Amino acid sequence: MTGSALVRAALGANTDTDSPLVVDVGYGASPVTTVELAARLRSVRDGLRVLGLELDPDRVAAAAHAADPPRLDFGRGGFELAGARPALVRAFNVLRQYSAAEVDAAWSAMTGRLAPGGLVVEGTCDELGRRCCWVTLSAAGPLLFTLACRPAELARPSDLAERLPKSLIHRNVPGEPVHALFEALDRCWATAAPFSPYGPRARWVETARLLAAAGWPVRDGRKRWRLGELSLDWSAVRPN
Ligand SMILES: C[S@@+](CC[C@H](N)C(=O)[O-])C[C@H]1O[C@@H](n2cnc3c(N)ncnc32)[C@H](O)[C@@H]1O
Repeated sequence: MTGSALVRAALGANTDTDSPLVVDVGYGASPVTTVELAARLRSVRDGLRVLGLELDPDRVAAAAHAADPPRLDFGRGGFELAGARPALVRAFNVLRQYSAAEVDAAWSAMTGRLAPGGLVVEGTCDELGRRCCWVTLSAAGPLLFTLACRPAELARPSDLAERLPKSLIHRNVPGEPVHALFEALDRCWATAAPFSPYGPRARWVETARLLAAAGWPVRDGRKRWRLGELSLDWSAVRPN
């Protein structure tokens, strides 16, 4: 299944499941990511509920004006998800404040709270969300690793390495799979240079095609790659 199809399935987009819950963990100083997440996901699944959780009580109080319960609400909580059973968890730019040794426990706490078929999306991005890397996990563990970018703003794909999630950022060294992935991506990007006249997105699509042709377990196809996104099986980057 593609990454998008997995999320749709988790939200029960094709079933009659009532009001699936989505949790945005560690939404930050402003609830803007939670509000946007709710708006975007409603086009995928009508009737879903979104809950923003924060450890910082001042941030919970500051988000109150944006609440619209039961569709959108905010509360105090951490990786234990305040006891909720969500279909989807987003945790962006939270684990980067932690040590690499704390990642597995945080992942387990979140995946252990998932509703059947649920997913956790945990990652890191730049301030504008134009350079992102995330891991998609089910209750069984990590499934996919995804890169997302505006190809026009990249000199080369390895520019994304600065936004690797905590589980991988210290692994971007020779001998580790994620380092080999960025080397392969940069080679494919160089080979795809003749596609530049068609625009940076065309060059990114060709880069993804070349990577898949080289044997990397690339998911999806041109339609998703055109968005500047690229998912691979987690096995491609699982640390040694
Ligand atoms: C950099 S902000 C991230 C904001 C937002 N998620 C984004 O992507 O822009 C990190 C936030 O995570 C919160 N945080 C840290 N550890 C947390 C935890 N275990 N559970 C919930 N929130 C946490 C902090 O209070 C801080 O507000």
